[in-house]
Amino acid sequence: MTQKQWTEVDDFVVELLTPSDRVLDAALADSDAGGLPPINVAPNQGKFLEILAASHRAKRILEIGTLGGYSTIWLARALPNDGRLVTLELETHHAEVARKNIERAGFSSLVEVRVGPAVQTLESLVAASAEPFDFVFIDADKEGYPKYLELALALSRSGTLIVADNVVRDGEVIDPSSADERVRGVRSFLALAASDDRLEGTVVQTVGSKGYDGFGIFLVK
Ligand code: SAH
Ligand code: DHB
Ligand code: MG
Repeated sequence: MTQKQWTEVDDFVVELLTPSDRVLDAALADSDAGGLPPINVAPNQGKFLEILAASHRAKRILEIGTLGGYSTIWLARALPNDGRLVTLELETHHAEVARKNIERAGFSSLVEVRVGPAVQTLESLVAASAEPFDFVFIDADKEGYPKYLELALALSRSGTLIVADNVVRDGEVIDPSSADERVRGVRSFLALAASDDRLEGTVVQTVGSKGYDGFGIFLVK
């Protein structure tokens, strides 16, 4: 099995089931024009996130790692009209591109993009006793994942679903001696999730246009 084949199959299913729409195409085009790296989720992964959040009837969604707002738009599509999505981004420029993309998608009133280091923003949400989130998507710097999990839990309720992107990393996740800080971050994240009595979950490996990776999916008991 090769990357070429994974991409062709992704193209086939995306063409069949999630034909491109103006708003998402424009979000990617403007992210690219703005010099943002092309590390957004794939369209079928975006649809997967939307379906997870919608089937969970999520009304409050927290996203850690906005980039240009591509995954944000997919997730916002799962929200009811009185829903809320808070998305956290370190880079001011990424956040500016994202806000425009989210505005064009018609979600400005539901989505808040918060700029700053996610740990700081999460701590301020905890300090402000923010209402718990129903669904959390973790997709920022991989080194930060363990801390993001801890803070996401502080902003969760029984029944909150926590999804994390990029937890397989070409299979490197199984290497205990990896020197790659991102791999180490993801490994610590999974170890923390495994040892926390409040969580149950698993990892689903994925192949596709984004290569070989996987989603961590955890339910707060
Ligand atoms: N979820 C997006 C992709 C996010 S890429 C999508 O699928 O469309 C990861 C993002 O996390 C980048 O925009 C990066 O700037 C941001 N990031 C990196 N470190 C961060 C930090 N400490 N706090 C908040 N965001 C961070
Ligand atoms: C990277 C980050 C991501 O969130 C992703 O999905 C792919 C790559 C990165 O930092 O390289
Ligand atoms: Mg990712």
